[in-house]
Amino acid sequence: MIVVPVELGGRSYDVVVGPGARKLLGRMVAGTGARRAALVTQQSVAGWLAEIDPGVPFEVFVVEDGEAAKSMATVERLCRRFAASGLARSDAVVAVGGGVVTDLAGFAASVFHRGVACLNVATSLLGQVDAAIGGKTGVNLPEGKNLVGSFWQPRAVLCDTEVLRTLPVREWACGRGEMAKYAFLGEEPMGAALADMPLEEQVATCVRLKAAFVSEDERESGARALLNYGHTLAHALEAAAFDRGGDLRHGEAVAIGLVFAALLARRLGRIDDRRVDEHRAVLAAFELPAALPSERRGSQEAERLVDFMARDKKAAHDLTFVLDGQGGVEVVHGVERGDVLATLAEMGEER
Ligand code: GLY
Repeated sequence: MIVVPVELGGRSYDVVVGPGARKLLGRMVAGTGARRAALVTQQSVAGWLAEIDPGVPFEVFVVEDGEAAKSMATVERLCRRFAASGLARSDAVVAVGGGVVTDLAGFAASVFHRGVACLNVATSLLGQVDAAIGGKTGVNLPEGKNLVGSFWQPRAVLCDTEVLRTLPVREWACGRGEMAKYAFLGEEPMGAALADMPLEEQVATCVRLKAAFVSEDERESGARALLNYGHTLAHALEAAAFDRGGDLRHGEAVAIGLVFAALLARRLGRIDDRRVDEHRAVLAAFELPAALPSERRGSQEAERLVDFMARDKKAAHDLTFVLDGQGGVEVVHGVERGDVLATLAEMGEER
């Protein structure tokens, strides 16, 4: 088992990575002093529920499957059910699931009784390397994803690599897309070597990088934004798919977004061909897509994608990207619309 601390002073906590990590939940819940727990999960992970034991009396709250669960309506329903079950300020919420569940349950925990302890048992690869760690919680509005949320750090995160065995193929791709961004982050970026590590070490390596960014900049006023490498186009592709059809998972979109970011950085003279090739090599090592989906090609689609990108949370009324450069990956404001459109056109010509 690998233990990675997230250093946040009095709110520090451990992320435990390894096969069987789920079995440590009872010990972690005991550490919070909770006498009851509310276990929030989705039907899709119900197969593991029999093996989840918080070590205190608990009730299970199953929310609907998929991203639809991340709504204000679900938060209200959950909080009302927490209240009806007698969950006290000193008790704990345990999220068992992927990013949807940890985002939702973490947000409900942060507002119920003005904040109760939350622990995450991350059951997806994406959750283990990103969503379950760092305290960003939230739900969607019809107007946009994650528009309502809070920073509420969990008290412990358990990343059980054994649980990943039952993940559907596309869920693996989704997690690997998020993993791929870490290949370019940190003081000595690992590149394609990350894909060659054993799974437990791979997850722990990503968790260490994430923990370092979160410790340095919990509220994302600086360095933490780099964790969004590849995400500006990814979010636009997801929004476009939501609006007009297309079948793209977050991690797949991030993979395409990483290639786009590399090509845009090259267009802006920040990196050379060799570095673009390194991006492609990482994606190939993780067996991820790199091409713009066919339904997103063409000048009209490009204009729409740029409109979505201009609304990105990082953007301060301009086009803002996380881009590679001589000194590594950094936030770049004020990118010209023409350069973004030209980069999309370049991608659209690739097969
Ligand atoms: N997923 C990016 C972050 O937690 O900051």
